[in-house]
This record gives sequence, structure tokens and C-alpha cells, in this order.
Amino acid sequence: MVDNIWTEFARSYDVICSQLNCYRRMVAKILRDTEGRKYVIDAGCGTGLVSQPLVERGHTVVGFDNNPAMLGLALARQAAAPEEVRRRWKVLEGDVRTFPAGVPGEADAVVLNNVLFYVREPEAVLRQALEHLKPGGVVITAGPRQRPDLRKVMENSIAEWKAEGRWDAALQAATAYHADVTRRLVTDPNEMVTFFQPDALVDTLRRLGFSRPLAADGNDYYGENYYVCMAR
Ligand SMILES: C[S@@+](CC[C@H](N)C(=O)[O-])C[C@H]1O[C@@H](n2cnc3c(N)ncnc32)[C@H](O)[C@@H]1O
Repeated sequence: MVDNIWTEFARSYDVICSQLNCYRRMVAKILRDTEGRKYVIDAGCGTGLVSQPLVERGHTVVGFDNNPAMLGLALARQAAAPEEVRRRWKVLEGDVRTFPAGVPGEADAVVLNNVLFYVREPEAVLRQALEHLKPGGVVITAGPRQRPDLRKVMENSIAEWKAEGRWDAALQAATAYHADVTRRLVTDPNEMVTFFQPDALVDTLRRLGFSRPLAADGNDYYGENYYVCMAR
């Protein structure tokens, strides 16, 4: 386990991301591209915000993360789920650079949502994804195309919340705290280290042994993020 910026982030991350429309739209794309794919590995699962809708839809999900605070919230989320859902949802400690031994292979999908930007060895992670997929299985990876414009993301999000009547005192307080930590995350060159343009990521995945791109765009987070889904 590692103590890093995600320890400070965990609680506000969980509150804010579950409210952010740009995050919700990305989760909707992950749900679209995992449809019918039974066993999903959620690598760098954070607080379980992507794992949860997957297990609720009937998938079997194994999620893992190496930060204790993020993982603690994922475990709490898993523990609060109904028994039938809990049985299909495993949450483990582990590093995305070497998937933990408790993660079975032959997966139908590996999700790496907003994780690669934090690792200096993205190809090692993508190789692990490839090795844990069955033929035809997909990797879904999303993240920043460049050092993100945080102000743009927050201004757009707040405008949407206001338009929807959701910009209440609780959201304002959580946003103020979260924006502060996020500012450090996006400006410190040792925190965000890996960025991809969608086409370059498709080329990288092809070189690593993936065969067929099913989705590749740079539309998420108001044009700040890439989204790539590619089959083994
Ligand atoms: C922005 S959060 C994304 C969490 C989750 N995937 C989601 O979509 O909500 C990044 C997560 O990646 C995890 N992470 C970063 N590097 C990791 C590594 N080497 N091994 C495991 N998890 C890692 C962090 O602990 C954090 O929980």
C-alpha cells in the first residue's frame, strides 16, 4: 500500500466525482462498452465508483488499488451492497504495474479509468491488461490528453450544476476542498506523469498486441480527456 496524494483526496474524490456530469458521461461510455462482457477487472478502482454500476448491472468485477484510503471507501461501498451483488464483487489491494495474484485472468474487459496518468510505466500496465484478457476481450482506458485545464472543467461543471439546481451548500464546500487538492495534483510534475492522445494510444496498444479499436475519442471532460476501447 502507498500513502500518496490519493489519501488526502479519497473522501472529496468520492463526493465530487459521483456528482460531476463529465465523470458520469465517462462512466456511461464504460457501461456502453462493457455491455455483455461478464467479467471485468477494474484496475486502479479508487473508491469503486465504476465497479459499482458494473456489479449492479450483473457483471462480475474484481477491483484493486494501491492506496489505502481509496481502497477503504471501495471496501465500504462493497460491504454496503446487497449480498447477491457482493458475491460478484471482489476488492483487493494491488499495483496496476503487476496485477495482484488474486485477480483471475481470461477477463472480458479491463478498465483503467483515469489511472495511467499516475504511472510512469503505462506500457507495463497495458501489457498486464493484455495478459489478463481473453481473446476478443477489451481494454478501456481513459485519462487526460495533456496537463488538464482544471478551471475549464470546474467552470463547466459548476455551470451545469447551477442549471440543474444542484449547486447547493454541500456541493460548494466539497468543491472548494477538492479544487484545492486537485490543483496540486494537476500542477505538480511528479503527480501527473503520463498523457495520451487517442490516436497515439491506439498505435501503442496495437504495438503491444491489441488488434481492433472499438472507440477512440478525445471528447470527455470538455475535450481534456481521451477515451479508448480496444479489443485483444
Ligand atoms: C483518479 S483515481 C481513479 C479511480 C477510479 N478508477 C475511478 O474511475 O473513479 C486514480 C486511482 O489510481 C490509483 N493508482 C494510481 N497508481 C496506481 C498503481 N500503481 N497501482 C494501483 N492503483 C494506482 C490511485 O490510488 C487512485 O485510486
